[in-house]
Amino acid sequence: MSVRDFQHFINGEWTAPAGGGMIDSIDPSTEDVIARVGRGNAHDINAAVGAARAAFPAWRDKKPKDRARLLFDLARAIEARVDEFAKWETLDSGKPLPRSRGEVLSTARYFEFYAGAADKYYGETIPLGADYIDFTLREPMGVTAHIVPWNFPMNMIGRSVAPALAMGNTAVVKPAEQTPVTAMLLAELMQELGFPAGVFNVVNGYGTEAGAPLTAHPDIDCITFTGSVETGRIIMKTAAEHIKPVVLELGGKSPNIIFADTDLDLAVAEASKGIFSNTGQVCSAGSRVLVEARVRDAFVEKLAARTNQIKVGRGMDSPEMGPLVSREQYERVEIYMGIGREEGAEVAAGGNRPPEFEKGFFWQPTILDRVTPEMRVAQEEIFGPVLAVLTFDDEAEALEIANGVKYGLVAGIFTNDINRAMRLARDLKAGQVYVNEYFAGGEETPFGGYKQSGFGREKGLEALINYTQVKNVAIRIR
Ligand code: NAI
Ligand code: MG
Repeated sequence: MSVRDFQHFINGEWTAPAGGGMIDSIDPSTEDVIARVGRGNAHDINAAVGAARAAFPAWRDKKPKDRARLLFDLARAIEARVDEFAKWETLDSGKPLPRSRGEVLSTARYFEFYAGAADKYYGETIPLGADYIDFTLREPMGVTAHIVPWNFPMNMIGRSVAPALAMGNTAVVKPAEQTPVTAMLLAELMQELGFPAGVFNVVNGYGTEAGAPLTAHPDIDCITFTGSVETGRIIMKTAAEHIKPVVLELGGKSPNIIFADTDLDLAVAEASKGIFSNTGQVCSAGSRVLVEARVRDAFVEKLAARTNQIKVGRGMDSPEMGPLVSREQYERVEIYMGIGREEGAEVAAGGNRPPEFEKGFFWQPTILDRVTPEMRVAQEEIFGPVLAVLTFDDEAEALEIANGVKYGLVAGIFTNDINRAMRLARDLKAGQVYVNEYFAGGEETPFGGYKQSGFGREKGLEALINYTQVKNVAIRIR
């Protein structure tokens, strides 16, 4: 397979990186180089922000229905190329091919969903009495910055860029250095479809070299970031300098609470999906299972049996679980396994590198049993295929453990007791609550964090708030 080279996409053109350097992107299943992208710096960012600024007035003033049509065209064009895009997403990230397909189709769905909103997001009229007419306008922000992580490379671009463009903003995207390829394929497609130059720009590079100057640029109007708490904190501080709004979607240590009255086979299947999907590299992973004490043994036995059957393999072979995205991520999992063992957790499944692979960042699907709430493996985000199993005696204890971490992204509840489900849904500190199906929801449902999982909401109509500002016009009739 030949290695593809991509320059930055700035002002509708392929633009050589100002500093001249390139970054290798590797396939984490084989450690082979599959592509090279520009190593962006402040000069490249400056050019991209300038292009986005110049493109903004015309894009903003385009009729919403015409913006929508272009975005609908993009959705259909992404669907038409699903095989090609999925292949590259898999090569770049290690994801199993069927998962990449799903994520590419979901990217198309974001463009479709927000295209539909482009001409339907209205202002209001506000009654001030007979002598006034008062109305609100929802105006775009301007130039939007998108700092994207590596766990859902193309999908997350769709998630934030689609609502931004639909509302009349322009965008500068900085993909993750580990997984830059599909952003470039999207740029190619938008160029083909005739998106106006400068509406969508992509500058690749490292966080400190390209991400930091983007978030610090005085001429951007808002920042959407998904990634680690540490980087989120830096970005928020940087944004404070120019008083720019930020949406931060950070990590999680989300609880999946399983009561004895639930169908155990269902709970096992959903707990497995919750942690092993995308090799556990999911901000909303159900990385803590809280299981009611009296079904604990049966649950762990069934879950361990299922876990041992999961086929780990190269993304292109469509296994159930692929490798971790990078050596750093692999080492992080290894370190946390050591911490868990030291803390006294019992390994009920997995726990090691699968012996059959000489290369690639593979890790066995792993269950840490007899975890207690104060352990680091119960508190800290591992971001790999490592599940912590804790037990509780009653609902009150389950709630206390569930809420007893610094994060609050999502929570799962498995029970047949509707009142219990409703009480917990009310009391859990989480931006999304799933009852009887983990990851329930879709592009339509608002998503974001409580506590240190961040703030602001993406997905659904709720996300449009991030990419608009409201102007109130009050008119006195004389
Ligand atoms: P990161 O938060 O450093 O990287 C995410 C994105 O931010 C990348 O595009 C990166 O280039 C950019 N970035 C890094 N430093 C920046 C800076 N100073 N200014 C602007 N942009 C910057 O995450 P990393 O190092 O890849 O992963 C570390 C941990 O973060 C993971 O192990 C995981 O726990 C968590 N993480 C959470 C994600 C989520 O979905 N919430 C996604 C990715 C990572
Ligand atoms: Mg890669």
